[in-house]
Amino acid sequence: MGWTMKHVVSVVDVGEDIAGVLETAQRERGRRLDTMSGRTLALLFEKPSLRTRVSFEIAMRQLGGDSLYLSPAEVQMGVREPIVDVAKVLSRYVDLIAYRGFSHAATVELAKRSSIPVINALDDTEHPCQALADLMTIRESKGSFDGRKLAFVGDGNNVCNSLMLACPFVGLDLAVATPSFYGPRAAILDRARAIARDHGTTIDITTNPDDAVAGADAVYTDTWVSMGNEEEKAARLRAFRPYQVDDRLMDRAKRDAIFLHCLPAHREEEVTAEVIDGPRSIVYAQSENRLHVQKALIMRIFAED
Ligand code: CP
Ligand code: NVA
Repeated sequence: MGWTMKHVVSVVDVGEDIAGVLETAQRERGRRLDTMSGRTLALLFEKPSLRTRVSFEIAMRQLGGDSLYLSPAEVQMGVREPIVDVAKVLSRYVDLIAYRGFSHAATVELAKRSSIPVINALDDTEHPCQALADLMTIRESKGSFDGRKLAFVGDGNNVCNSLMLACPFVGLDLAVATPSFYGPRAAILDRARAIARDHGTTIDITTNPDDAVAGADAVYTDTWVSMGNEEEKAARLRAFRPYQVDDRLMDRAKRDAIFLHCLPAHREEEVTAEVIDGPRSIVYAQSENRLHVQKALIMRIFAED
């Protein structure tokens, strides 16, 4: 397939191949293969997880390989031992690492020091696998990305960042509504806007949720308190209150707009139960697609030229 990329630290590392990953994901969904036979994935996690851990483990099983889970208590990256030693030791035992940590700098360092591919399984800056699953879900539901618009409402966080960086590659327009203090970081926004310019798509940033969702085909929100932000919880709950996705906000989007959430969700905080449990919500299909896109991603990382 001629894919020279190895690490997936940012969704931009997948870049122009995002469409290819989505196609592979669709084609191979549910199929058992032997691509990873004799190979092991280490899930190196410093934060809790349901979807990411389970979907990676099942993806490896469907590909005929093995996986092992290293919980936050075990490795204690940078505390029990330095990242460089974790990288070099794991590179001797396993063939691929999915890393969920706190700082993006740690993800970059782990990738730099490993002689095997590293996939970012969420850090404070990005959640690339989530963005791939989100795009797969939108395409499945809408048929194509042409002329479509996604609205992200809430915190300008890791999930928002990866969506900003990924949407232009598939031709999807994006509008983001956040309180001004919680907007996406300037460096990520600049990078996303440059990619959008090259691909002829738009990224609109606003503080007004009604403006963001106007004419949207999909409305997306995420928790207001990401893992690592717990100490700011009270201030965040106050600041984000006007950004709750409820039926009134959904009614501002297109009539057939879908609702997306990466989960875990907090009903009556970032989204009302009427929306997430209602007919426009496709959040469980979205969760399922994590499995399909990660399987495709692994296949493409290990594809022979
Ligand atoms: N969406 C997501 O990454 O969920 P987990 O934190 O449960 O893995
Ligand atoms: N933004 C959330 C996503 C969880 C999957 C967090 O980082 O906690």
